[in-house]
Amino acid sequence: MIVLGIESSCDETAAAIVSDKKEILSEVVLSQEEHKLFGGVVPEIAARSHLDHIDDIIAQAFERAKIKPKDIDAVAAASGPGLIGGVVVGVMAAKALALALNKPFVAVNHLEGHALVSRLTNDVEYPYLLLLVSGGHCQILVVKGPGDYQRLGTTIDDAAGEAFDKVAKMLKLGYPGGPMVEKMAAIGDENRFCLPHPLKGSGDCNLSFSGLKTAVRKIIESYGNGDIEEQVLPRKDVADICACFQKTACECLLDKLEMAIEYFKKNYPKGKDIVVAGGVAANVYLREKMQNLANKKGLVFAAPPLRLCTDNGVMIAWAGLERFQKGFVDDLDFKPRPRWPLDSEAPKAAGAGGVKA
Ligand code: KG4
Ligand code: ZN
Repeated sequence: MIVLGIESSCDETAAAIVSDKKEILSEVVLSQEEHKLFGGVVPEIAARSHLDHIDDIIAQAFERAKIKPKDIDAVAAASGPGLIGGVVVGVMAAKALALALNKPFVAVNHLEGHALVSRLTNDVEYPYLLLLVSGGHCQILVVKGPGDYQRLGTTIDDAAGEAFDKVAKMLKLGYPGGPMVEKMAAIGDENRFCLPHPLKGSGDCNLSFSGLKTAVRKIIESYGNGDIEEQVLPRKDVADICACFQKTACECLLDKLEMAIEYFKKNYPKGKDIVVAGGVAANVYLREKMQNLANKKGLVFAAPPLRLCTDNGVMIAWAGLERFQKGFVDDLDFKPRPRWPLDSEAPKAAGAGGVKA
């Protein structure tokens, strides 16, 4: 079985082709550079750029895979959540292809793409515990199967990636901020500043990053006349702030993960894997901390290769393939969804509950 996946929900225009033998036949990603000027993604610019490039990206995916469009079994597209103008572009391209080729269309939740891609690259089995940390989301979930999730906790304000991006912006490190914060943190002193751990000991698996971000802002403001726009900090101080922020943000995540692990072990005794996914999963410091936690708790840690942590077509193709294998196919009038919680889909059998085989 061969599936084409299309991703266009934020600032990456991507397409990839994967097979049920866990082969990545091709992958093409275009990261839009246009947003760097603005310090964040501009939805209108993103949508226009997706429109300009999507046909070429899909054509390249077929070319690199050395297969013809007629050789695929289904077309999958990230159909939400995300910046709706971009999502519409990818979904329309996928539907047009599906119609022209007379192949099934599979609407994939972008978050499900992140959530399942480790099953393509590692031997991860259902059920598993997942930390999903991206620019827009921060959740701890039990993944029981395609479309079947139990959410154990979520952020009540900023997503983890968003917090990295905001700290980077305050320190004038550019966008996206996560990779730059990680780079500077590597040369900083992570014990220099004491930062708060929001929601620590709250008794649930929820997270919060806004207080942490404010604490960073206060440190930066303390350097000058209080006008953060004007301040350019010495490189050593920037590195120390990044290191302290990264350490504290990861401690917050690990603290709640530890609680989630207890729940997971008790309620899903057959589960053995703990997985991290989403753009922030590219953070090597976080990966190392999760590896240590998994070792301590007797779980197997898995993370996608770095290039498959941030948005890509492979994860959409793979999630589409898993859904298609289950018989989940969508109508061509499926409406792209700006919001689409991962745990909103009722568990379903193929051919039932509005899902057609
Ligand atoms: O999953 P993704 O590519 O897009 C969304 O679905 O949001 O995640 C992008 C987010 C950005 O906030 C970016 O700063 C963050 O992932 N990110 C990182 C790293 N690489 C990307 N955060 C921390 N450390 C990194 N190395
Ligand atoms: Zn994403």
